[in-house]
Amino acid sequence: MRILAISDLHVDYDENRRWLYELPRHEYSDDILILAGDISHETGLLAEALAELGQRFRAVVFTPGNHDLWVYQNHAADSLARFEQVRQITLDCGVQMEPLVLDEVAIIPLLGWYDFSFGEPSAEVRRAWMDFTACRWPDGMDPPAVTRCFTAMNEPYLQVNRPTVITFSHFLPRIDLMPLIIPPHRQGLYPVLGSRLLEEQLRRAGASVHVYGHSHINMRNFKEGVLYLNNALGYPHETRTARQLVCVWEKQRAENYRQTGPERG
Ligand SMILES: [Fe+2]
Repeated sequence: MRILAISDLHVDYDENRRWLYELPRHEYSDDILILAGDISHETGLLAEALAELGQRFRAVVFTPGNHDLWVYQNHAADSLARFEQVRQITLDCGVQMEPLVLDEVAIIPLLGWYDFSFGEPSAEVRRAWMDFTACRWPDGMDPPAVTRCFTAMNEPYLQVNRPTVITFSHFLPRIDLMPLIIPPHRQGLYPVLGSRLLEEQLRRAGASVHVYGHSHINMRNFKEGVLYLNNALGYPHETRTARQLVCVWEKQRAENYRQTGPERG
């Protein structure tokens, strides 16, 4: 059994839907997939993608991204109603948004949003960032309140006690996961990338691995005992993404480690 991960499938793009359909049908029947959000704002495409993945894997654990909660084209009253719609779609497709707890490993999805803990957005970002027009929240609910609302839903799940805990979120839990080479004019988007509350929660959950999405910058970072990993499929024009599933845990390797210590070479 392996635990594989990917995010940001964005199946609104034909190339990405093709990638999904071309995934082998039988290779993953013993494996679990972490799916870290941004599949599609369109209900039909979201359901189709989740069902396709649900048929291929032993289990799929999912958390929605910002695109999944856009309200235009899907008749949801607001993005909280859309969240409930998405939760129902996952249930219908045999995909789960709750933790998956096995004997030796637990996978905990962390709901979230961005709360400007990475900086205040400029007027330009507030005007141009699509979420500010494509999402609608109940009166008085600003992004920090949305973040508090979603992260509060994670609280009951932070107490699992397993040899390995893997958490994942769509949004970034810390801004120093972004590479130093990002030019200053692109750093204007940092305020809408995530929330420090996620970092605080993954630490409390005892995670040794955290998978995230949203930035479409695929990389691994090791910080203070936690491996942070982003593996986005991303947009077709983004050539830096590997466009393949990545393995974050494997039962056989974990057993070998317990018996003989770390692998050499
Ligand atoms: Fe995103």
